[in-house]
Amino acid sequence: MTHDIDILHMTLFWICVTTGFFVFAVMIYSIIAHRKSRGLMTHPFHKKTWVELTWTFISLIVLILLIIPSIRVLMSMNGLSKEDVPPATKTFTMTELMQKGHDIYQGLCAACHQPTGLGLPPAYPALNGSPLVTGPTDTLLNRVLNGKPGTAMPAFRDQLNDEEIAAVATFERNSWHNKTGTAIQPSEVTAARAKPVTTEEKP
Ligand code: HEC
Repeated sequence: MTHDIDILHMTLFWICVTTGFFVFAVMIYSIIAHRKSRGLMTHPFHKKTWVELTWTFISLIVLILLIIPSIRVLMSMNGLSKEDVPPATKTFTMTELMQKGHDIYQGLCAACHQPTGLGLPPAYPALNGSPLVTGPTDTLLNRVLNGKPGTAMPAFRDQLNDEEIAAVATFERNSWHNKTGTAIQPSEVTAARAKPVTTEEKP
């Protein structure tokens, strides 16, 4: 959509530049070529109705040509649903979050924390039964978003969007022996992203 608006803007811009260039070229030429010092007489040009009408119609046609692409872009913007624009405000069901979270966990987290959630202590801690995972959501989201500097735990803030972080966090809080029964929504991740990185120890 942004791309379409940009193309529309640049197209209209160049049409205006070209029109301006020709109008000024004709004006400057007329002023110089028909100057008084050459002894030329003014002609009662304005009494020719058809010339004036033609001028008016040309401008009208140029205006209509400019309006058509603008209306097309406006109409396609109207077709966008609210969900397409701010995905972070969408809420998901527990089932949706668990399904998506499961896939993300298997793909990005299981190598270290293991599919069982038991990890490989002491290198990789267990998420199953971890009070950091089942405790305050802020602490969990902070760990997944920002990782833990100085350890192997990576920051996922640039790799995953709000919806994906919400899903994987919900999955960890409700898998294996972890049964908080609560879902984390993308809007909570949006809020957590803005908070400063904390390096607090396990609760
Ligand atoms: C390269 C290995 C690695 C990967 C991949 C990884 N982690 Fe970790 N994770 C760690 C390590 C190491 C720690 C322990 C950091 C510390 O010393 O507190 C940790 C700690 C955590 C903790 C805190 C657990 C606790 O009890 O302290 C959470 C939650 C967590 N990881 C979630 C995730 C999630 C979610 C993913 C996938 C999106 C993930 N991790 C991927 C290595 C990894």
